[in-house]
This record gives sequence, structure tokens and C-alpha cells, in this order.
Amino acid sequence: MLTRRRPLHHGMALTVLGAVLAGLLVVLAGIYNVGASSQHFAFTDRLLKLVLNRSIATYSLGIKPVSLDRPGMVELGARHFAAGCQPCHAGPGKTQNPIAAGMYPAAPALSDNVGRWDNAELFWIVRHGLKFTGMPQWPGEGRDDEVWPVVAFMRQLPDMPVERYEALTGREGDGFSFAGGAATLALCANCHGDAGRPPVSDLAPPLQGQNRDYLVRAMAEYAADQRQSGMMEPVSVALSPETIRELADAYARMPTITASPPVRGQAAAGEVIARRGLREQNVGACLSCHDGGRSAQFPRLDGMSQPYMAQQLRLFRDKVRGGTPHAEMMRAVAARLTDRQIDDVTAWLAGRSASGAEGAP
Ligand code: HEC
Ligand code: HEC
Ligand code: HEC
Repeated sequence: MLTRRRPLHHGMALTVLGAVLAGLLVVLAGIYNVGASSQHFAFTDRLLKLVLNRSIATYSLGIKPVSLDRPGMVELGARHFAAGCQPCHAGPGKTQNPIAAGMYPAAPALSDNVGRWDNAELFWIVRHGLKFTGMPQWPGEGRDDEVWPVVAFMRQLPDMPVERYEALTGREGDGFSFAGGAATLALCANCHGDAGRPPVSDLAPPLQGQNRDYLVRAMAEYAADQRQSGMMEPVSVALSPETIRELADAYARMPTITASPPVRGQAAAGEVIARRGLREQNVGACLSCHDGGRSAQFPRLDGMSQPYMAQQLRLFRDKVRGGTPHAEMMRAVAARLTDRQIDDVTAWLAGRSASGAEGAP
């Protein structure tokens, strides 16, 4: 048996060796053109697309899509898209940045392409990026929650009229700048609102009436990669220390504004935690640190929405938000609360702001 098969084995081995040597010659001689100005061979192109499609399908299998129709989700995603994605991918009525237009593979117009992917696949692409294409991964480490609003927005892209795109992104003109002054404040207001407008989504915190020193520190921490957010890190690194101080001043002077209507829920249980804490779980009263002038470094929670506060508590608990001495204070608190207690206390705190009074709603 063995002796009879040997000539066949030799033949195959020689063919494989020949192919490997030929491939090596192409690589070492530098014959394959890697210039972005020349196209792949049709075969290489099909192979790469197959690898990409299969990989995205496989890796997105375990992702559990979240509901995409919460109010404010599409708007927040749209506002990030206009700054973070449109330069490469264009948008209804908007062209690509000419530098991005020279990329190979080119970033496709997503209005035409999103239909090819389900929500989990879109999430996976935006969260992880795509190797060898220039498609970047999400800049906020551990912030999967921030990717879903972008997915919610992309779902709306096919057939979106230009006017709807401009209304959603809040960018009729492209008059934003990072250099300070009104054009920079308008950029922030596009997500956070201003003296007369609440934030665009209850997932973006109100800055109106917030402690100035806390605002300055928060922006510095995003810029230094000490606080993770794919929405705020790119904005913060573009601001000079003077502009940060100027914006913090402007927001701190505005009257507090309420981000969302109150949530009816376990108000009584939440009030006990906020006012008195939980002695048996070693949790101090929230208001002992958060109400009034104990420290300008402790954020005021007035006007904040329940979803934002609950999300931040979970980020502290899961050690996504942390690393600084101030964050460590909150990690200790959040780690001792159950999910139910997080929902209760944030529902009460949000209700208290919305009712405009100190007492429970
Ligand atoms: C620096 C340019 C760049 C930026 C910024 C960028 N992308 Fe991409 N994107 C690409 C490139 C290049 C591809 C790959 C195209 C390919 O494989 O043919 C891609 C692919 C994609 C795809 C898959 C499209 C398809 O059908 O092949 C999606 C979805 C996507 N990007 C969404 C986004 C979103 C959302 C953002 C913003 C959060 C974003 N991209 C930011 C360059 C960019
Ligand atoms: C695309 C929407 C968007 C834009 C534009 C934007 N922000 Fe934000 N900002 C957010 C979101 C979302 C968060 C919450 C991030 C997190 O979870 O840490 C945030 C958080 C913040 C915080 C932390 C607040 C807190 O209570 O901890 C500050 C400070 C801030 N932004 C300032 C600014 C300033 C100043 C500008 C303008 C230069 C700006 N932002 C522009 C979406 C935006
Ligand atoms: C010992 C003082 C202290 C106690 C007690 C405390 N906090 Fe905090 N909290 C802080 C500090 C300091 C920060 C700012 C952390 C940072 O900058 O990363 C903070 C941040 C927060 C934030 C994020 C706000 C934002 O703008 O992003 C929320 C929400 C919050 N706390 C809720 C609570 C709740 C609810 C309780 C009670 C269960 C509580 N805190 C108890 C000190 C405290």
C-alpha cells in the first residue's frame, strides 16, 4: 500500500512546493502593487470580500441587539455620525472629504450598504472596525452602549431626504469650530443643549448649571484617555485648555435644565438611599456628596436623566469609568448597589429634578 502511493505523494509535494516558491518570489520581488491607486486583481478582491463577510457574520453571532427605538437614540447617533463618520462615508446631500475619497478600499455610502447587514453586524463593524481597510474601531474602550445609537441612526439612512439628515444631525451649515467662541458652544449645544434647550437625548448629560471645576476635569479626563467615551474623547482632544475653561464657565453659569421627564418607579426606596444611604451595605447617602457645596469636584445630579445616571453607575461598578481618585470614590459606592437599587435611586433623583423641588415627586 505505502510503496504504491509514494509517487503520487511526491508529485503533490512538488506542486505545493512550486506554488509556495512562486508566491514567495512574487512577495520578495515586490511585484504585487500595494499602492492604493491600483486595484486588486478580481480574484483577490472577491477573496477579501468573502473573508470580510464571513468574519463579520461569525463574530457578530453572540451579540444581543438592544431596542433601537428609545427616544433620543437616533438623534444622538446622528450627531456623532456627522462629525465622526460623514467625513469618510458621506451622507445625504454631503460629500466625502477628498482625502477619504482616495482610500482603497473606499468607504462606501452607507445609505446604499446598511441593508446588507443586520443590527448585530452593524454594531460589530462600528465597535471593532475592519482590519486593512481604514475603518476605525470605536474610540471609547468598553463603551458598547454608545455604539447602539449610531446603529439606530444608520438604520434610518436608506432613502433619507437631505432635509431630514440636516435636521437630525443639527448641521444645516458646517459652521462648527473647536477654536472657542460661539461656533464651539454651538457644537456642544448640538448634543448637550444650552440655556434654552435640553440635551438632544437623555443619554447625553445636561451641563447647564454643573460645577465649573467638575466640567473642566471631566473634559481633561476624556482628552487624557482616563474616562472612556467614543463621543467625547474625539471632541475633548481638539480643545485647548483655554477653550475648555471658557466652555465650562459658560455652561456653569446657565440655569439647570432637566434632561427628561421623571420616571415613575420605586421612588420611596430610592429616596431612602439618596437621603440616608444603606448602612447595612456600607453605602453613604448620595446627597451627602452630591447636594450643594461639599466640593466643586463632586458633580451636581440636578436635571440628569434616569438612563444617564443608571448607565454611569453601571460603568463605575464594571470599572469602565474609573482610575482617577474621584472615580474610585464612586466605584466603591456603585459596587455595593444591586441593579434594582441603581434603578430605584436614579429614578428618584431624576424625579426630584423634574418636579423642580427638593422633595419626592
Ligand atoms: C477614516 C475613514 C472612516 C471613518 C472615520 C469611518 N469609516 Fe466606516 N469604513 C471605512 C472603510 C474604508 C470601510 C471599508 C470598506 C470596504 O471594506 O470595502 C468602512 C466600512 C464601514 C461599514 C461596512 C460597510 C460595508 O457595507 O462594507 C460600516 C457599516 C461603517 N464603515 C460604518 C461607520 C460608522 C458608523 C462610522 C462612524 C462611527 C465610520 N464607519 C467611520 C472608513 C471609515
Ligand atoms: C455627539 C454628541 C456630543 C457632542 C458634540 C459633545 N458632547 Fe459632551 N457628551 C456627550 C455624551 C454622550 C456624554 C456622556 C459620555 C459618558 O458617558 O462619559 C458627554 C459628556 C460630557 C461631559 C461630562 C459631563 C458629566 O456630567 O460627567 C462634559 C463636561 C462634556 N460632555 C462637554 C462637552 C463640550 C464642552 C462639548 C463641546 C466642545 C461637547 N461635550 C460636545 C455627547 C456630546
Ligand atoms: C463620598 C462621596 C459620594 C457619595 C456618597 C456618592 N457619590 Fe456619586 N460621585 C462622587 C464623585 C466624586 C463623583 C465624580 C466621579 C468622577 O469624576 O469620575 C460622582 C459621580 C456620580 C455620578 C456621575 C455623574 C456625572 O455627571 O457623570 C452619578 C450618577 C453618581 N455619582 C450617583 C451617585 C449615587 C446615586 C449615589 C448614592 C447611591 C452617590 N453618587 C454617592 C461622590 C459621591
